[in-house]
Parts: sequence; C-alpha cells; structure tokens
Amino acid sequence: MVAKVVATAFGGPEVLAVIDEEVGEPSAGQVLLEVRAAGTNPIDYKLYSGARGKDPSSLPMSLGLEASGVVLAVGDDAHGPAGAVQVGDEVIVFPAAGSYAERVIVAASSVVPKPPTLSFEEGAGLMLAGTTAVHALRAVGVTGGETLVLHGASGGVGQLAVQLAVAQGVRVIGTASESAFAELRRLGAEPVLYGAGLVERIRELAPDGLDAAIDSVGTDEAIDTSLELVADRRRIATLANTPRGLEVGIQALGSAPGADPGWEIRSQARLELVRLAEKGLIEVTVAATYPLAQAAEAHRQLAAGHTHGKIILIP
Ligand SMILES: NC(=O)c1ccc[n+]([C@@H]2O[C@H](COP(=O)([O-])OP(=O)(O)OC[C@H]3O[C@@H](n4cnc5c(N)ncnc54)[C@H](OP(=O)(O)O)[C@@H]3O)[C@@H](O)[C@H]2O)c1
Repeated sequence: MVAKVVATAFGGPEVLAVIDEEVGEPSAGQVLLEVRAAGTNPIDYKLYSGARGKDPSSLPMSLGLEASGVVLAVGDDAHGPAGAVQVGDEVIVFPAAGSYAERVIVAASSVVPKPPTLSFEEGAGLMLAGTTAVHALRAVGVTGGETLVLHGASGGVGQLAVQLAVAQGVRVIGTASESAFAELRRLGAEPVLYGAGLVERIRELAPDGLDAAIDSVGTDEAIDTSLELVADRRRIATLANTPRGLEVGIQALGSAPGADPGWEIRSQARLELVRLAEKGLIEVTVAATYPLAQAAEAHRQLAAGHTHGKIILIP
C-alpha cells in the first residue's frame, strides 16, 4: 500500500486527504515510479474547486500532473521520448496524473531523463510550467531583438518564460511585485510593478512599443494593458483567462474549453527543456517544499497567488 493525496469532495484545500492505495505492477508501455518529488500547479486546486464542473464520479479525485523519481519497474516495451526506460533511471514524468503519491504508474511516453544537474525537487517543477512557457512564446511568435511584456513574470510559468525568451535574445519586461524584482533582474528581465499606472510605466521603459504580450496571471489589467500596447491581437496570449481572451480576440492557451491546448508543441518541448536545464541555461526556483501529507498547506500557499517559483511536495 502506498500513500496518495486525493480530493474527497469539491471545495478548498480542506477537502484533501491522504489515503492508502494498492498500486500494482506496470502493464506494457507503463512504468512504476518511486516519487521523490511532486510538482504543484494552480490547475491542481482549480480541478477540485468546482470551477471546472462538479462531476461526482470524479471523486475521490487523484491529484498532481508532474513528478520526478526513480524507476522501480517497467512493463514490456517501455519506451519514452528519449528511448528505453530502465529500472533505476532517475526521471521526470509529465504528464503524470495522480503524482501526489509515494508511487505512481505512468505511461512510458511521459518519462524523460532527469538531468543530473537538477535536484529531484527542481526536476519535479520543470515540465508543466516549462512546456507552457515554450507554447506561449511560440504562439506569440516572439524572436530575438523583439520586446515582450510578460504578466506574472515571477511565477512558476513566468520565471521559465523569462529565461527561455532571454536565451533567444528577446527583451522581456515582466510585471511583478517589488519583492520579485531582484530575482527577475538576475534572470535577465526588466521588472515593472503591476497595478494602477502600469501602461505608463511600460511605455516609459519601451517608448518604441511592444511586439508581443503573454498573460500568465489572468487579471483584466494584464489583458487590457496588452491590448493597449500591442497592436496585433494574434501576438497576445493569455494562459489564465480564456473567457476574456476569446471575447477580445487574443490567443487563449491551455486546457480550458475553447483554448488551444498545444499538446504537440508541449510534448515535443520536454526533451528540449531537459537539454537546456542540463546545460544550466534554465533553472527552476524551488520556492517551498512540503511533506506530501501537508498538500493542503501547500495549496493554501499556492492559491494565495504570490509564489515566486515552484512549490514541491515530498513523499
Ligand atoms: N494555460 C495553461 O496551459 C497554463 C499552464 C500553467 C499555468 N496556467 C495558469 O497561469 C497562471 C500562473 O501559473 P503559475 O504556475 O505561474 O502560478 P504561480 O507560480 O502561483 O505564480 C503566480 C504569479 O503571479 C504573480 N501575480 C499575482 N498577482 C499579480 C498581478 N495582479 N499582476 C501580475 N502578477 C501577479 C505573483 O507574483 P507577485 O508576488 O510578484 O505578485 C506570482 O508569482 C495560473 O492562473 C495558472 O492556472 C495556465
């Protein structure tokens, strides 16, 4: 029996519970992972909040979409994007439903090698945010020499998007609270305070205008500012407010109804992220770690919306 975290009802973090479950053996094309670290993401709490429907048959709801760990067993034909998966491999798994657990069975197609330069905690936080960042940058088509405004630059997705864009020679103006400014400068972005007067502050930094914008926070301010400063609506993308994005004719990216999930781009981005992390060209900031049993506490911190980096659960 292994411990896993589930949502027992729809609601806030108080509905989370740790249960014991039989895991079994991996079938063909599957891998059994000993989870060393599980990444948390806002979608994890949004799914049991009821905001995306309250289908009772989805309860108790397994949680988590990404993790890192060590391969304990493999089924026949266990091949991932980087080749055959072997017992003992240190890996990152994404997508990996139910990864808030001591052990999890995942499709071999979700398994990529963990670069030795990344800790298990860093590896567990790389993929969901990293593949989202790759998708968003690709969607707005930003290239070297251009200027991008990135709303929510200090978050899990934001920090990876900053690094990926800067590595391509893009000038990044990133909105954040002042407590994140030093870190954003270190990553190569120019921070700017969100809130009243944002348009003017960005104009001061970029009097010649902006080429593209990515909203990784979902506020009306982020979308309205982008609409005002970027002439071409196809070069604005929201990751966090699909209804408003569709209404105003900008790109909406992700798993919400009506948005572009970008599965192909995200799936292919995983090995590139591994390569960049291995070379030290991108890093993952671990903002906090919690024992698995304190997943509710982790979600309270995450839902407060001011995390600078990734919150990781340790089984
Ligand atoms: N569509 C997709 O595929 C996809 C994928 C991943 C995430 N998302 C969504 O994207 C959003 C960000 O995800 P995440 O994992 O990066 O979350 P996160 O790690 O919790 O980061 C959120 C960041 O937003 C900043 N922030 C809060 N209020 C802000 C405001 N008014 N203006 C600008 N920044 C503000 C916070 O920094 P400060 O402390 O500096 O305020 C915090 O660092 C979430 O809504 C998530 O659900 C969508």
